Amino acid sequence: MSGIYFHIPFCKQLCHYCAFHKSISLQAKERMLACLKKELDDRKAYLEGKNIESIYFGGGTPSVYSPEEIQSLILEIERHFIINDDAEITLEANPDDLTHDYLKDLKKTSVNRLSVGIQSFHDEDLILMNRRHSGQQAYDAIKRAQDYGFNNISVDQIYGVPGLTLKKWEENLKKVFELNIQHISSYHLMYDPNTVFTHKLKKGIIKEVDEEVSLAQYKLLISESKKHGFKHYEISNFSKLGLESKHNSSYWQQKMYLGLGPSAHSYNINRREWNISDNLKYMNAIEKGEEYSEYEELSFNDKFNDYVLTSLRTMWGLDLEVVKSEFGEQYHRNCLEKADKFIESDDVRIENGHIILTDKGVFISNDVMSDFFFIED
Ligand SMILES: C[S@@+](CC[C@H](N)C(=O)[O-])C[C@H]1O[C@@H](n2cnc3c(N)ncnc32)[C@H](O)[C@@H]1O
Ligand code: SF4
Repeated sequence: MSGIYFHIPFCKQLCHYCAFHKSISLQAKERMLACLKKELDDRKAYLEGKNIESIYFGGGTPSVYSPEEIQSLILEIERHFIINDDAEITLEANPDDLTHDYLKDLKKTSVNRLSVGIQSFHDEDLILMNRRHSGQQAYDAIKRAQDYGFNNISVDQIYGVPGLTLKKWEENLKKVFELNIQHISSYHLMYDPNTVFTHKLKKGIIKEVDEEVSLAQYKLLISESKKHGFKHYEISNFSKLGLESKHNSSYWQQKMYLGLGPSAHSYNINRREWNISDNLKYMNAIEKGEEYSEYEELSFNDKFNDYVLTSLRTMWGLDLEVVKSEFGEQYHRNCLEKADKFIESDDVRIENGHIILTDKGVFISNDVMSDFFFIED
């Protein structure tokens, strides 16, 4: 399985929590489109001979491009690769871009999955986050997309936000489930460097929520999604059966992917590569045929630790047979020894030869995962 990711590095407005690479100057949109196509052409050998099972337009805000522009990128992929008939083709979209006209034209493209950034349905949260839509607009955008025939929709939500009480979070969840969507990505707010939120936190203008509140919100998310027929298949991701994000699962299942655009990452089992996080430098380099990415060769140990990190995040867990066959006896023994300790504390269980986080373990997933790492002396 292999996937292609496009990073669309533009946003119309900056959200106060977000550190993803983007620019609010949209002037270079057309030039960037040409560069993305050129990069695909330059780097097609990375996935040589592979069929494409997923395409993901992420950002930034991919919906700053018209449906025709998005389709032109898909056609460019088709020039170089075979795209599987059942490929998942996702567009991240901001709710206020999903107008009638946009959706009507988007339905004519090959995009078959939408990931919509809702964040919260409460307007005061959206104002604090500096989002460019209201709760009602977000709700209506999803309904509209469904009316135009989109039947594989994911929404992004953030909890652990200052001012988001448990009651308000419960209301957000209730609205999400009312919408009858297929997939939910719910993230705890992270105070990333160089964001307005982190600046406000340092100045004491906003306060981090208490750990008990975070935990109560996560627990509610898990129990409510279960109640509404969603599978909790990755720490922050929930889906209706069979509708897990193929693209994101390929990250967690260590499949190959090619990331195009400024700041995009690529992975082909042996090597990780990442593009420069600067639109102008990226475009200049692409046009002149100069270097715009860096890479890291992965050591045997890196590969094992990557496997731990990605597999334990998911409901499928860490496959002990894979560890034995790919990494050998010593790594296998290490996993079993570590598992013993966490089975006792009810943080992991072993099922059909897989080590899987329990609901309790999910709350301390970072600690559990790092304990499984194999550290060379
Ligand atoms: C890169 S954004 C792109 C989505 C699209 N631009 C939008 O905002 O609707 C993907 C998602 O990451 C989440 N996100 C970004 N920064 C975050 C942070 N600091 N803490 C928690 N979630 C964050 C948001 O839920 C966001 O929708
Ligand atoms: S959350 Fe989305 S719209 Fe907001 S700044 Fe980040 S990428 Fe842009």
